[in-house]
Amino acid sequence: MIQPQMPVTKHWSFHVDLEQLGWLTLDTPGAPVNTLSREAIAELETLVGRFEDLISSQEIVGIILLSGKDSGFIAGADISEFDAMSDFSVLPDALKRTHALFQRIENLKAPVVAGIHGFCLGGGLELALACHYRIAVNDDKTRIGFPEVNLGIFPGFGGTGRSIRQAGPVDAMGIMLTGRMLKAGAARGLNLVDKLVRHRDMLRWEARKAVMQKRKAIGAGLFKRVMAMGPLRGYVASKMRAEAGKKARLEHYPAPYALIDLFEAHGNDWQAMIRGEIGAFVPLMGSDTATNLRRVFFLSEGLKKQGAKGARFARVHVIGAGVMGGDIAAWCALRGMSVTLQDIDMERIKPALDRGKALFKKRLRKKFEVDAAVARLEADPTGKGVSRADVIIEAVVENLEVKRKIFGGLEDKLKPGAILATNTSSIELERIAEGLKDPARLIGLHFFNPVAQLPLVEVIRSTFNTDAEIGKGAAFALAIGKSPVVVKSAPGFLVNRVLMPYMLSAVQRVEAGESKELLDAAAVAFGMPMGPIELMDTVGLDVGKSVATELGNAVPDNSQFANLIAAKKLGRKSGEGFYKWVDGKAVKGPTPEHADLAGLGRELVKPLVDMTEIVVGEGVVANADLADIGVIMGTGFAPFLGGPMKARKDGKA
Ligand code: NAI
Repeated sequence: MIQPQMPVTKHWSFHVDLEQLGWLTLDTPGAPVNTLSREAIAELETLVGRFEDLISSQEIVGIILLSGKDSGFIAGADISEFDAMSDFSVLPDALKRTHALFQRIENLKAPVVAGIHGFCLGGGLELALACHYRIAVNDDKTRIGFPEVNLGIFPGFGGTGRSIRQAGPVDAMGIMLTGRMLKAGAARGLNLVDKLVRHRDMLRWEARKAVMQKRKAIGAGLFKRVMAMGPLRGYVASKMRAEAGKKARLEHYPAPYALIDLFEAHGNDWQAMIRGEIGAFVPLMGSDTATNLRRVFFLSEGLKKQGAKGARFARVHVIGAGVMGGDIAAWCALRGMSVTLQDIDMERIKPALDRGKALFKKRLRKKFEVDAAVARLEADPTGKGVSRADVIIEAVVENLEVKRKIFGGLEDKLKPGAILATNTSSIELERIAEGLKDPARLIGLHFFNPVAQLPLVEVIRSTFNTDAEIGKGAAFALAIGKSPVVVKSAPGFLVNRVLMPYMLSAVQRVEAGESKELLDAAAVAFGMPMGPIELMDTVGLDVGKSVATELGNAVPDNSQFANLIAAKKLGRKSGEGFYKWVDGKAVKGPTPEHADLAGLGRELVKPLVDMTEIVVGEGVVANADLADIGVIMGTGFAPFLGGPMKARKDGKA
């Protein structure tokens, strides 16, 4: 087969087979995943020009677009170019060019079929939607969606209109507004893909058939489209705004609201939606929110690059099956490790196993997966798992003598190279390690409660540790899907240290007569996920008190705080603290009016930001960036402000 003359490209390869099918493959050079960089798009432009000729001269009968990467189809546009692309003098033209390119693909006079495996996200999905037909591999790895809202934008390559054309307005807006990633079956259910195959090696054959049979995707039916027609559209838009309002405020996260406005204006006409897209998109891309969210994205990606390379962790032994130990053990089992869980007796281990099973049922879809996870989590009252474990995590009561005794008895039984870690939240690591023959072995792995929900693990470094132990600890945190931030062993580490002054100063204001509802509402208006008083109730007043004491802020006797603890009103877990709690929710009274809620919130958050500066100054974390991402992950601090240090620098906190 003589191949047609094609332009030279770095990202794409193209060949024509004996049946005159054109096979187009994207393989981003030197990267683990495919992205649609400016260069890749410019190359595609030249290729599409050739395709137009080859189709009109009948040299090819159709085009099949595939990925050359095992990791997936296309992960999206190249986010590392976004800062440069935010420039108003560049962005509108760049978007117009891509819109025109995708339209030319759609206008090609021969079938264009996308074969999707793995990640098909953002710009990648937009390109797939500009093809005439989409086939996806129906396995656990395929993920299809529009994560743009997480970066403060929405789809900008025509995806707003084309997803509405395929999935109908409500479903398409749903996935764009939530950024949710769909598995292949769900994407088929929404009509974002047209055909499923079981294995990746079936993609080519099925795509070939689709071209030969000139298959074309069918758009959403009238039943779905009706939701965007006439006055119904305004009603649907207002419902969407109400839903968005529950998750994010317009002034913090404008993208979802701008998308809803666009939908309200054009949601009944997918082409008009695409025409309106650029005008609504451009101001978002350069906004502070989007700039900060991109920064947060790169900082959290940066955390994934830490850790010793090549470390393998198959077996974990956890000592202490209480709130933390039980949940850490279950989490490790969920993530595929074999876990032995030790406590004083079987009776104390049993509740943790039951909680583990509930977690597996919630997180794993298939019964055999749940059964396998249950089998991986083993009660071990005698500690026989110690000698086989790659990682040992101690999470017994917060008592130096008890912890010392446990570690003293462990050292001779360990496998060489095994990680030895404590989950202590307040005891200096050096004091626990002192009694060891090799004190350099002990690191801290400080998890947060609830373990299954909070992504951060503080990897605590004592003065005895070397990079080797810390690197292994970070690698382990990554292996169980958590985000490690290395922190020096100092009271409160990073997160508790910065949270405590913020929570305590709010408690004092409530004790002085201010409304807790007002303070909580103000912190949320500033951008915190939850107010400080509600947070204190959630953490538990007893836990809050002990951390406060450890940080040198003893809770005064006879204060409201101390009295609540004395009355066993410990917060959410006991049904009452500062608030009463019903069905896991704080029962709140009315919030008094306030002229500048966000301003009050800023005032409340000041102690947190001040303390973050101090902690960075003391070198507890290596730099301001790590402090920002650590505090965002550990406290939920306003991601749209880019973290406390960035917010301070920008004069926003
Ligand atoms: P917990 O009181 O719920 O559990 C402690 C468990 O350790 C109990 O089941 C107890 O029977 C067991 N234990 C005591 N002595 C033992 C021994 N010699 N051998 C085996 N097991 C023994 O306590 P929690 O809250 O789980 O805390 C555990 C550790 O985690 C503490 O060091 C705490 O500072 C730390 N931590 C706690 C957090 C929280 O929010 N509760 C957050 C992060 C760290």
